Amino acid sequence: MLIKEEIERLKKEKDAVIMAHYYVRPEVQELADYIGDSFYLSKAAVGLDAKVIVFCGVSFMGESTKVLNPEKTVLMPDPCADCAMAHMADAETIRRMREMYDDLAVVCYVNSTAELKRHSDVCVTSANAVQIVRKLPNKNIFFIPDRNLAHYAAQQIPEKHFIFNEGFCPVHEHVRVDEIRAAKAAHPEAEILAHPECPGEILAMSDYIGSTSGIIQYAGESSAQEFIISTENGVRYELENRYPDKKFYFTVTEPVCKDMKLITPEKVLHVLKTGENELKLDDEICEESRQPLMRMLELAR
Ligand code: 13P
Ligand code: SF4
Repeated sequence: MLIKEEIERLKKEKDAVIMAHYYVRPEVQELADYIGDSFYLSKAAVGLDAKVIVFCGVSFMGESTKVLNPEKTVLMPDPCADCAMAHMADAETIRRMREMYDDLAVVCYVNSTAELKRHSDVCVTSANAVQIVRKLPNKNIFFIPDRNLAHYAAQQIPEKHFIFNEGFCPVHEHVRVDEIRAAKAAHPEAEILAHPECPGEILAMSDYIGSTSGIIQYAGESSAQEFIISTENGVRYELENRYPDKKFYFTVTEPVCKDMKLITPEKVLHVLKTGENELKLDDEICEESRQPLMRMLELAR
């Protein structure tokens, strides 16, 4: 039997669904029942009917799914798929910041461990960070872990005082200005679409800044026919499927998240078959990290 058919059969037998982020391999995206950016996936995870969720993405995404669905089984096709940025902040610094500022809001990008989320007041994704921080009553914002998204949000909300944390995504951080310039020289009509995890110099050159879903939506709505995409190369699959008449270019050094690419159809099949790699979270961590995630979902409504 083909892998795809075997997966379909097991999904029915085990009452399972497959969720996937746009950065995973095309052959894994093809298997997904739910595919999207981090915000879409967090929303979609709430109140899912299935008993089992196979999460094709990195560990912080699986954790958020478990936190929002504690009674469900969450299986990770490759438990080694992790996000370096998710660990680039610490509870001790949060504690010190809370001592320094009376009215501090700790705003935690969802690309963070559940352990970091539990010390935070509200979570955000790249799709809703500006909207949510703007709604907070607090003047002082400690934004963890991503400094690039924090600087982008701070520019949009000058009335708030941001305290920055030195975390970054190693994939987006290394998009190069000279490579974007070269792509623009080769395709002068192309619009530049960038993810806010990119450094400020890249964002300053861009025609549109947004989450992966935002980029995909913008490319459809824009009258432009060509685009230079400054985010992880997994989005190419959705862009080319949705808009076969438009052209999409990446920098010569394509941004690739090696952790997202660890997920393969064979590993999806393996966990469905065996139930291995179940994501387990301590009850207290689960309970405490649910609050900032739920607050995000409420404020983003
Ligand atoms: P979004 O899914 O919010 O676009 O974030 C990108 C990312 O880096 C996920 O790991
Ligand atoms: Fe983490 Fe960056 Fe990979 Fe997203 S692309 S999972 S932020 S390392």
